[in-house]
Order: sequence, then C-alpha cells, then structure tokens
Amino acid sequence: MSGTQTTYNDKVVRQFAVMTVIWGIVGMLVGVIIAAQLVWPELNIGPWLHFGRLRPLHTNAVIFAFGGCALFATSYWCVQRTSHVRLWGGPLVPFTFWGWQIVILLAAITLPLGLTSGKEYAELEWPIDILITLVWVSYALVFFGTIAVRKVSHIYVANWFFGAFIIAVALLHIVNSMEVPVSLTKSYSMYSGVQDAMIQWWYGHNAVGFFLTAGFLGMMYYFVPKQAGRPVYSYRLSVVHFWALIFTYMWAGPHHLHYTALPDWTQSVGMVFSLILLAPSWGGMINGIMTLSGAWHKLRDDPILKFLITSLSFYGMSTFEGPMMSIKTVNALSHYTDWTVGHVHSGALGWVAMVSIGSIYYLLPKLFGKTEMYSTKLVTTHFWIATIGTVLYIASMWIAGVMQGLMWRAVNADGTLAYSFVESVKGSYPFWAIRWLGGVLFLSGMLLMAYNMFKTIAGGKTEDAPVMVPAGHHA
Ligand code: HEM
Ligand code: HEM
Repeated sequence: MSGTQTTYNDKVVRQFAVMTVIWGIVGMLVGVIIAAQLVWPELNIGPWLHFGRLRPLHTNAVIFAFGGCALFATSYWCVQRTSHVRLWGGPLVPFTFWGWQIVILLAAITLPLGLTSGKEYAELEWPIDILITLVWVSYALVFFGTIAVRKVSHIYVANWFFGAFIIAVALLHIVNSMEVPVSLTKSYSMYSGVQDAMIQWWYGHNAVGFFLTAGFLGMMYYFVPKQAGRPVYSYRLSVVHFWALIFTYMWAGPHHLHYTALPDWTQSVGMVFSLILLAPSWGGMINGIMTLSGAWHKLRDDPILKFLITSLSFYGMSTFEGPMMSIKTVNALSHYTDWTVGHVHSGALGWVAMVSIGSIYYLLPKLFGKTEMYSTKLVTTHFWIATIGTVLYIASMWIAGVMQGLMWRAVNADGTLAYSFVESVKGSYPFWAIRWLGGVLFLSGMLLMAYNMFKTIAGGKTEDAPVMVPAGHHA
C-alpha cells in the first residue's frame, strides 16, 4: 500500500495544485464575461447567464474554488514539511479534496439557477452550507492533527496564519449561515434587520481578513523565504504581525456599513480599527519584502520571486487604500462606485492571485518529479501579462470610481443634481472596456500557466517524497 508514514502525502497537494489552475481559469473567465456584459449589455443572455447570476458565480469561483484550492494545496504542503510528518487524518484528507470539489460544482449549478441566500460571499443555500461545514471541520482536524503529531517542537509562523485562517473561517461560516430552511433550495437568515447586516459584514470583512489575507500570508511566510533562499527577515515581527492582525480584523466590519441604520458609534469603531489595521498589514508586507535583503539580485531573473514580491507590493497598496476608504468622508465618495471594485481587485489580482500563482509555480515541478517548470520563459511572460492586466484593471476602476462619485454628488446652483445616473453609466463605458482588456490579459496569463503546467506534468513522476527526519531526531 502506498501512503506509508515514511512519505509525505503529496497526492492531495498535487490534486489541489492542479485544480487551482483549472478553477482559476474558470473563475476568471466568468470575470471576463461579466466585465464584457457591462460593456456590451446584449451579452446578458437568458435568465441563467445574465450579470446578476454570473457575478456571484465569479466571486465564488475565484475566492473559494481558485483561492480555496491554492490554500489547501499550500497549507498541506507547508504543514507537512515544517512538521516533518505525513498529513494526519487518513480518509479525511481525500474527503477534503472531493468534498470541496463537490461544493464548487454545486455552486456552479445552483448560482446560475438563481438559488441564493442573497448574502454576499455566502450565497450558497443551506444543504451546501452543511457540506462546507463538514469539509471545513475535516480540514481543521487534518491540519491541527498534523500539528499535534509533529516531530519538531516549534510551530513555524506560516502554520499560525494557516491555523488562524481555518479556525476563523469555520466560526464565520457557521455563525453567518444560521438560517431557517423552508425547502431544499430556500432558506431565510436567522437574523433580521440591522443585526443581519452587522453579522453579514462581520463575516464579509473577515472573509477578506482571513480567507483572502491570513491564509495567503501563511503562503507568503513559507514560500517567500523558500524561493529567496533566506530566512524570514524578522521572526519577532512575524509574531507581532500575527497577533495584531488577527485581533484587529475582527472589529473592522462596520466600515462596509457607513451611513446606514447601524448605530453611528459602531461605524466609528469600524473606521478606527480599519485605520489601525494599516500597521500590522504593513508590518507583514515589510517583513516579506525585506526577507529578500541580501538576495535582491535573484529578483532579476527569477519569475517566481517576481510574482511573490510583486504580490506583496499590491498587498501593501490595497491595505493602504482600504484604511483610507474606511474613513467616513472618503467612503461617502467611494461607496457604491467602481473605486471599491478597483480596491477589491488590487487585493484579489495583485495580492491573492499573484501570491498563489507564485507558490503554485514553486510547487508544480517538485510535485511532479522535475527540477523546474517546463518553460521558465513562459513564467516570466505570465508575470508581465498578469502585472499589466492588473494595472489596467485597477487604474481604470479608480478613474471610473472617482468620476462616478463626483458626478453623483455634483449639484447645480439651485440644488438639483447636475447629472442623471445614466450619464455616469455612459461616462464609465471606456473604463469598463479597459477593465475588460485587463481581465483578458490576466486570463491569458492563466492559460499560459495551464499549458506550462501540463507540459511539466507530462512524463513527470508522481511519487510521494520521503519524510525528512529533523536534525538530532531519530525516526
Ligand atoms: C487594511 C486592510 C483593508 C481595509 C481596512 C479595507 C477596507 C475596505 C473598505 C473601507 C471597503 C469599502 C466598503 C464599502 O464602501 O462598501 C472595502 C471593500 C472591500 N475590500 Fe478591502 N480593505 C483592506 C484590505 C483588503 C484586501 C487585502 C482585500 C483583498 C484581498 C480586500 C477586499 C475587499 C473586498 C472584496 C471588498 C468589497 C466588499 C463588497 O462590498 O462586496 N480588502 N475594503
Ligand atoms: C480575469 C480576472 C478578473 C476579472 C475580469 C474580474 C471581473 C470582475 C467584475 C466585472 C466584477 C463585477 C464588478 C461590478 O459589479 O461592477 C467583479 C467582482 C468581483 N471580483 Fe473579480 N475579476 C477577476 C478576477 C478576480 C479574482 C482573482 C478575484 C479574487 C481572488 C476576484 C474577486 C472579485 C470580488 C470579491 C468581486 C465583488 C466586488 C464587490 O462586490 O465590490 N476577481 N470581478
């Protein structure tokens, strides 16, 4: 029987790594389609494929399918390598893979059908919510079970971030998904009114903080030092970074609900914590980038490092922008506009996607018995296409967003609105076209990655690597 205690479980890492690329392409293709629908409205076809149904499909596919698979792959790799043991949990491990793929398929079927709980980033209906809970609890058991049987006393900082991400997502998902089913495909939230809004955005913001940030910081703390061949710049800073980040994120949710029926003081608390959040975020970014000190020259011709370090720059940018947008007076301009969408994608494409792409490029050759990717040149090309695509996307959204905000608030001398809403839509067209182009570029990069991946896999070996015995330890 394969899968003895003397090898790592690399099979599940291989499965999640390959699916990261596949789901990345699917999710981003849907992104490109909805971007096109905003430019060419006639592309809104039938009830199933119009913007309103495809938009949640896009967000679910990129966050939970693409981002989720990347997080599973990298956390499983990291926790085994840093604990010097095979993944704990036996059949729970393949269950996390197949269970998660079924969740994704069910999302891909139900969302176009219009079956939704209507909560952003938590749209899936209650039977799928239950499956998610089962998969997630299994993930937690596998991850923490592996930590529990580790062969080294130290728990490396990346595992702290992965662990916090797993616990927080379980908590967020279970609390926010409390719902009363009325049929197999319909349920109503257990909460109502302003409490519902508050819980939804406590969830929503921490989905950003833990799903889209803490887990990816775990990735950063493992793969940046590995690829740079240098230890983390400051281990002490990484510990401060960890506690400050997880404590602060929990309180920032109300910045999504400025000028709503939420009590004013709650909004102000959200704003203040969002401003404080700049410090730990930048601490983490600096720690990651400075890990390169003494190895800056590697950045010149190592495209994987380029992906990783550029992702940290975008992380720094979006975590500067976020606190600014949480200031109530700034939010009065940015809210409801494309500025928010630009902010989202500077985090999503620049940070989340790039750090994942870099990490998966690191893993692929090792998973398939090769020393490097089939073509390093193609990785470099991918890097440039992705960077240009991201810049086109976010710059066009900033301009469109500020323009929309200013048009909506402009008044004539007699107090009437200077512009109708439709005029702001018309003014946005050129920028939506540029965003679409940025998306096409980003997606093309992913297609290059898939080609490179399959060429790397072809003729490769799929043997699990032997568990390394830590120094001074007898197995
Ligand atoms: C210090 C860190 C951050 C702060 C304080 C912050 C703050 C904000 C603010 C104020 C908004 C606008 C809320 C509104 O007007 O509706 C927002 C939206 C958003 N941000 Fe951030 N942000 C941060 C980092 C990030 C990062 C790194 C990502 C992605 C990886 C991200 C993803 C999002 C998403 C998805 C939304 C849109 C939510 C929605 O309305 O659907 N944020 N953020
Ligand atoms: C080819 C790449 C992509 C394209 C073309 C694209 C396009 C879009 C479009 C057109 C929207 C709707 C904007 C609107 O409602 O006006 C959107 C929303 C969103 N996308 Fe993407 N996207 C891409 C990649 C990603 C990735 C990789 C992620 C996450 C990791 C992501 C996360 C989101 C989120 C969270 C929203 C909702 C934003 C909000 O509510 O403010 N996208 N995307």
